[in-house]
Amino acid sequence: MGRLEALLAAMTLEEKIGQLTMAAADRAVTGPVVPGDSRAGIRAGRIGGMLNLWGAEPARAIQRMAVEESRLGVPLLLGFDVVHGHRTIFPIPLAEAAGFDPALWERTARQAAVEATGDGVALTFAPMLDVARDPRWGRIAEGPGEDPWLASRFAEAKVRGFQGSDLKDAGSLAAAAKHFCAYGAATAGLDYASVDVSERLLHEVYLPPFQAAVAAGCAAIMPAFNDIAGVPMTANVPLLRDWLRGQTGFDGVVISDYNAIAELVRHGVASDLIEAAALALKAGVDIDMVSEAYRRGLPAALERGLVEMAEIDAATLRVLTLKERLGLFDDPYRPGASSAARNSSEAAARRDLAREAARRAIVVLTNSGILPLAAGARRIALVGPMANARADMRGPWSGAGEADDPVTILEGLRAALPDCEIVFAEGVGIDGKDIDGIPEAVAACRSADVILMCLGEAAAMSGEAACRANPGLPGRQRQLAEAALEIGKPVAALLSSGRPLIAPWLVERADAVVATWFLGSEAGNAIADVVTCRFNPTGRLPVTWPRDIGQAPIYYSARPSGRPADPKDHFTSKYLDIPVEPQFPFGHGLSYSRLTLTNLRASAETFKPGEDILAAVDVINEGAVAGEATVFLFVRDVVARVARPLLELKGVAKIVLAPGERGVVRLPVPAAAFAYPNADFQPAIEPGRFELSVGLSADRASLLTISIFAVAA
Ligand code: BGC
Repeated sequence: MGRLEALLAAMTLEEKIGQLTMAAADRAVTGPVVPGDSRAGIRAGRIGGMLNLWGAEPARAIQRMAVEESRLGVPLLLGFDVVHGHRTIFPIPLAEAAGFDPALWERTARQAAVEATGDGVALTFAPMLDVARDPRWGRIAEGPGEDPWLASRFAEAKVRGFQGSDLKDAGSLAAAAKHFCAYGAATAGLDYASVDVSERLLHEVYLPPFQAAVAAGCAAIMPAFNDIAGVPMTANVPLLRDWLRGQTGFDGVVISDYNAIAELVRHGVASDLIEAAALALKAGVDIDMVSEAYRRGLPAALERGLVEMAEIDAATLRVLTLKERLGLFDDPYRPGASSAARNSSEAAARRDLAREAARRAIVVLTNSGILPLAAGARRIALVGPMANARADMRGPWSGAGEADDPVTILEGLRAALPDCEIVFAEGVGIDGKDIDGIPEAVAACRSADVILMCLGEAAAMSGEAACRANPGLPGRQRQLAEAALEIGKPVAALLSSGRPLIAPWLVERADAVVATWFLGSEAGNAIADVVTCRFNPTGRLPVTWPRDIGQAPIYYSARPSGRPADPKDHFTSKYLDIPVEPQFPFGHGLSYSRLTLTNLRASAETFKPGEDILAAVDVINEGAVAGEATVFLFVRDVVARVARPLLELKGVAKIVLAPGERGVVRLPVPAAAFAYPNADFQPAIEPGRFELSVGLSADRASLLTISIFAVAA
């Protein structure tokens, strides 16, 4: 008998259920507050994990209680939402996704893990992999955007970064990929609302990122709060047990979302905690986060025969196995005060990384030539409520990041432009209720050569339970912006937000619009780097940006219509009141260079299913500064038994070019890129014509496309 089996054999039922119970501390509040003191429970072996507690000393103290004062001395699993940084805050995931840079995603996750483990954390509730196509849903901020291929690459990079090559290493965190699954498809963009997606959409869009996370060795998975067609994910046997455990072979820990097991009662699938506990355990949920359903319900469920001891044992063993993989039995305090987290040169390197990730996240949406700021500008008016909104720069889920840590836009610009006079006027508050400074802001604008408007949302306006039916500029910001636009000076708008903001009037009237999202600790410096061209922008939209909320849900990979939009034909797929096109397509983002693509070719015109193809395209920098192109590769299966989307992203490549330089970008198209889930949802390649397209975005009008043919094997 191994050490864990022996431990299991020594446990009482209460102690086993204790391993399946995670309680909340109150260093952060991430759900309904549960009153009570966990200390007695830890000493009695009734609690096996805690969340929302960090700090080397508090972590050590609570761990000591479990190890030295409980009967069996099993160490606690300490979890925390280290989503985009722990103390050093990196851009929100949606913004990081705009970098289209897996190596960078991995590095930021690694550094977040170094800081978090230094604070005693062993498990992060990340990466968040919810494909999201509706900007009303506040949690769009926390994930990698609308595309399953992109989300899958994000999943792999984040799991690698958090976990490293061995969970026992100093600086390795166990990752819990979440929220499994289709949480982003909440009806009408409303958080916690019901989801009803087809099995096909699950297999094409919502499952692949989790498949990728599992393949990358992700230690844990968190089921989502939502139901799918009436079956809550916390009790979803077909998806949790059959697909996740059965088909992908996932053998890690499934950890419920906050209070989600007890919420099965309100979902209307369990009449009490006993039934709720039985449903969740049967579906394969190992750890009950906060709800106490396992502690209060499982003993009775066992007595009534709703669950078997073998199921409780299996769940307990999975939790113990994770603790062992983390090295907790050998060193319950783990590397604790990991020296890398404290070393000052490493801390400075983390700051540099935060700046690099932040500037790579910035997406220049429009620019009539006002950016980069001309070297001769003497006086800049910096107006709007986001210019000095320090704490908000962290965005939602900012871990242990301090409110006074981020560099503001005002500070970043002042540091970058010491010879320039920067006149700052807030104008209005973020939600417009507190400040009436529009006249003062207008005066500042009149006296300036150029106006930078810093507009957007508060950090708390995106993230969990932060949906907005009208995700435009809140409060009186539009009034401020219009007053500034009236003056007739050049105006650039910088938008801080956790989602695409809908402001077609602004896009039409401003000389430049830049999506700066929530960029974290180095926000102001990164923004200054981009507006001054110290860094030539490279960010590309990981989501389609709508022009009107009536277009949501919106995404580039739509299936073809039998009546595609045609302005000359009434009976086609259009709106009467707005254009059908988004404001900006997926992948859109401008550079200060002028990059063009030409001469797309493929390594073969025909291929047999199972063979890889290599595509290549020439890229030219016709601009005056060196720049980086991001080239997207899309595939379309033109005729198939089940209609395939008009475009599906299958590859991304980058190239840096000097002014006037021409280079070649090669994009491998692996055989799997031609497959789609067949009637049994197994990947299959049908013979026939495929279109390969490349472009600088998913704008179909500007793609280069060639046809290649799959021939029967
Ligand atoms: C969120 C999760 C999070 C958990 C723990 C929940 O409310 O949905 O994403 O990991 O709280 O903080």
